[in-house]
Amino acid sequence: MSSNSKKLIAVIGATGQQGGAVVRALQAQDQFKVRALTRNPGKHRGLADEVVEADLDRPDTLEAAFEGAHGVFLVTNFWEQGTDELKQATAAVRAAKNAGVKHFVWSTLPNVEAISGGKFHVPHFTGKAKIDRIVEEAGFANHTFVIAPFYYQSLVGVMAPQKQTDGSLGWALPLDPAVRGMHMGDISELGNIVAGAFAHPDLAGHGEYLPLVGDFMSFNEIINTLNRQGHELSFRQVPKEVFATSFPGAAEVAETFSYFKAHTYLGSDSYGRIALANKIAGRQPSKFSTWARVNMPVRVAQEASK
Ligand SMILES: NC(=O)c1ccc[n+]([C@@H]2O[C@H](COP(=O)([O-])OP(=O)(O)OC[C@H]3O[C@@H](n4cnc5c(N)ncnc54)[C@H](OP(=O)(O)O)[C@@H]3O)[C@@H](O)[C@H]2O)c1
Repeated sequence: MSSNSKKLIAVIGATGQQGGAVVRALQAQDQFKVRALTRNPGKHRGLADEVVEADLDRPDTLEAAFEGAHGVFLVTNFWEQGTDELKQATAAVRAAKNAGVKHFVWSTLPNVEAISGGKFHVPHFTGKAKIDRIVEEAGFANHTFVIAPFYYQSLVGVMAPQKQTDGSLGWALPLDPAVRGMHMGDISELGNIVAGAFAHPDLAGHGEYLPLVGDFMSFNEIINTLNRQGHELSFRQVPKEVFATSFPGAAEVAETFSYFKAHTYLGSDSYGRIALANKIAGRQPSKFSTWARVNMPVRVAQEASK
């Protein structure tokens, strides 16, 4: 198909992990033209067919950013200071609607408040879930929800093993390592699901929930997998109250682990949703052991901990 006749997909977060995965999968699929959106287009020239400025905190930038787009992928970044996910997503939905966008894909997370009957307070999950209704009620011809898992990449990033007081390399976390509660995945594979949804709105464009899940594990299983590959990683369970004061955002992380223990990451039996996501992606997502062998060799884990 010539580039001019291809429909255009505009991707928020194109310079990040989720949006970057979407850009790469759309490019590999070669069915759509891709517009990467960023607050700093000058820094990211060549990232996609087009690179255009968009700032979710400046709604005036969004309509131009979505102009002429058939589809939009939206992710908001809870962890960036000052981010109001509800305000940003509402602005993006409104601008997409005004620009005539047909298919809106929103990267959501489970509603912890509803799942736990108000017991657990995890704003970076529940805040995203509350946006689902806004997407649904906007009345796009098609809309799809994708659910990002616990990134394998976190284990070489924000949750890399640290040097412990006993000299070992490992983790001290407020979680029961024996409980299987984490739906995990290689976030670079999220793009396959999103690109598949844009290509198959008939199968996944009516409010379907598509989680990326490569593995479902306990922390002991994660550590055993890594140690079988040559690591010597330790684990110590620490009280939630102690961990919660250890860095900004730690209380939210601790509460998230309590939720995983009680309800699991996805919060319910998601077998059907995972199967549909894999069908839409056209492939099985990578297992943790496969990802770790390539991306977490012993040397990388040691360097990430420094
Ligand atoms: N880590 C996990 O295990 C995990 C699991 C599930 C869900 N999540 C969720 O994933 C989200 C983060 O996604 P990510 O991992 O892809 O983030 P990331 O790699 O840190 O990238 C953040 C992206 O957001 C864009 N961005 C931030 N503020 C923006 C704004 N005001 N306007 C336009 N773009 C903006 C940035 O674009 P520019 O800087 O180029 O403008 C960048 O591309 C968080 O909300 C988190 O809750 C994380």
